[in-house]
Amino acid sequence: MSDTQKQKAADRAAQDVVSGMKLGIGTGSTAECFVKSLAERVRGGLDIVGVPTSERTRALCEELGVRLSTLDALGTLDLTVDGADEIGPGLSLIKGGGGALLREKIVAAASERMIVIADESKLVPALGAFPLPIEVVPFGLAATRTAIERVLAEMGLPTDLRLRGGVEQPFVTDGGHYILDAHLGRIDEAETLARSLVAIPGVVDHGLFLGLAQTAYVAGEEDVRMLRA
Ligand code: A5P
Repeated sequence: MSDTQKQKAADRAAQDVVSGMKLGIGTGSTAECFVKSLAERVRGGLDIVGVPTSERTRALCEELGVRLSTLDALGTLDLTVDGADEIGPGLSLIKGGGGALLREKIVAAASERMIVIADESKLVPALGAFPLPIEVVPFGLAATRTAIERVLAEMGLPTDLRLRGGVEQPFVTDGGHYILDAHLGRIDEAETLARSLVAIPGVVDHGLFLGLAQTAYVAGEEDVRMLRA
């Protein structure tokens, strides 16, 4: 994983932004590179308004002078730019390693286009080596977890409750939920899994982003490749 590569992919995506756009702004280290590129262009006169997908991204945008609004105020967005934990066939994605999957998915779904930015370590032949984040409400955690593990039983291992770094307390998302990370190894039937998970009461959403991204900019040692869904 290289910060230079992340920045190159982010810079490439920033070139696609034009004045007047309403932008969804992702979360994570690669998305932070994008905010930096964007802020530089804003200082140069680019006039955009963004919707951040996390409080962390909001803070960075405010610090760097990127104008923000809310999804409710803007309605629909022109473009969302975000990172990913895995980029699989057809630009299917696993997201949520940073815990922002719910807002990321709401914002991506409200956007006409989504561009994924990543270094090439994120490209995979099949999704699932990265643990799939499943966001759940704290109420009834044990029952929800049992129902999820029943769905996952044929596919892999049980789930881990995500903890805050170094302490025995659950990680809490911006929406006040918990995250169960499912170690699946390989996901062959992503659509089926996605449908089964959201049908479980207590599951708020999951990190499978299917059919949302149209373009990816993936940076390698030499150059930035454009992939299309
Ligand atoms: C945040 O919840 C995630 O979806 C991130 O977009 C994803 O984890 C990629 O993060 P990095 O760019 O830090 O690898």
